[in-house]
Amino acid sequence: MSIGTRSRISAKAAQFTESVIREMTREALRHNAINLAQGFPDFPAPAEVKLAAQEAIASDINQYAITWGSRDLRNAIAAKTAEWQGLTVDPEREITVCCGATEAMIAALLATVDPGDEVIVFEPFYENYGADAILSGATPRYVSLRPPEHPDGDWQFDPAELRAAFNAHTRAIILNTPNNPTGKVFTPTELELIRDLCVEFDALAITDEIYEHILYDGSRHISPATIEGMADRTITINGMSKTYSVTGWRVGWLIAPPDLTSAIRKVHDFLTVGAAAPLQAAGAVALRLPESYYQHLSADYLSRRDQLLNALREAGLIAYRPRGAYYIMTDVAAFNFKDDVDFVRHLIADIGVAAVPGSSFYNSTLGSQQVRFAFCKRAETLTAASERLQRLRPR
Ligand SMILES: Cc1ncc(COP(=O)(O)O)c(C=O)c1O
Repeated sequence: MSIGTRSRISAKAAQFTESVIREMTREALRHNAINLAQGFPDFPAPAEVKLAAQEAIASDINQYAITWGSRDLRNAIAAKTAEWQGLTVDPEREITVCCGATEAMIAALLATVDPGDEVIVFEPFYENYGADAILSGATPRYVSLRPPEHPDGDWQFDPAELRAAFNAHTRAIILNTPNNPTGKVFTPTELELIRDLCVEFDALAITDEIYEHILYDGSRHISPATIEGMADRTITINGMSKTYSVTGWRVGWLIAPPDLTSAIRKVHDFLTVGAAAPLQAAGAVALRLPESYYQHLSADYLSRRDQLLNALREAGLIAYRPRGAYYIMTDVAAFNFKDDVDFVRHLIADIGVAAVPGSSFYNSTLGSQQVRFAFCKRAETLTAASERLQRLRPR
């Protein structure tokens, strides 16, 4: 006897769609379009870091590392955090290495959030956060980052709207600075305001700082854990992907107070056991690169940003100048397409450039005329994309 039909898909999985960003990469391949959609570099990683990975495999670092990360990498993370942020963290009790910032975020949420809890997310947001909230059973509460009146201005949030999002059910706020997709770099004043609300409502801050070294126009990255009163309530997430141009290596980490770290390590262990051991060995080498490496990284990204910003503006888009990270958010309303998805389909199929529809960064409809372009690409790639973009015409 049949027990009747029931869904073979969990309610959680049914609530979100597959990643639009990754889908755009597949579309770009299908149409042979230049991929300014997904944020991965098309230039090589630093030679000494690649060599360190080769040597690690040659010297038989082939078995599981300690589940929360090899001691050498954790020591390197602690040393770099002390040097760059002035924060003392205990590599034995406060650092967990995992498979990218992506695993770090879901592990942090699964370790700290219960179904029914609320998690505050600034919108537009990196699209993983929406799915992460659902997977952890949390209810996301979105707070708008509004585009500036002038495209060279800063994206802003309304403090009153942020305050209204906090309540007795708020367990955490997710903060991404420098921000994907807007390029916003949160200021000390904004972070202090967030600190005051976290303290008042006894909430955690889960901060994604994966673009910490990609900064423009003199903006400074302030790690929220360094704001007075925040170290004990902040889970700091970072990784190798963007800083060392190795998005495919899947090495990231979390820094959190010992009680939170214990919970995170348990979740991480049962999710993935650990990140690739030889790549952790190479990570320790990467994190010990001299300061000049980071200066070059930022300078190279500045010229890429300016190249794409100029090209987008010449093509007639409103292109918001990012202060950090490697994306440019644009407004394409002037082109009279039905919506952002319609615009991007035309861009990929007819112009030969892939980008990401803005709506994939929003829960609301606010992104329906926005499109995100990534510029983590060689100058030649950006030049070729720029030439194609000049063929864009309004409908
Ligand atoms: C804000 C943000 N966090 C995390 C990630 C992914 O990081 P990882 O490669 O370390 O998983 C990305 C990648 O685009 C990102 O933009």
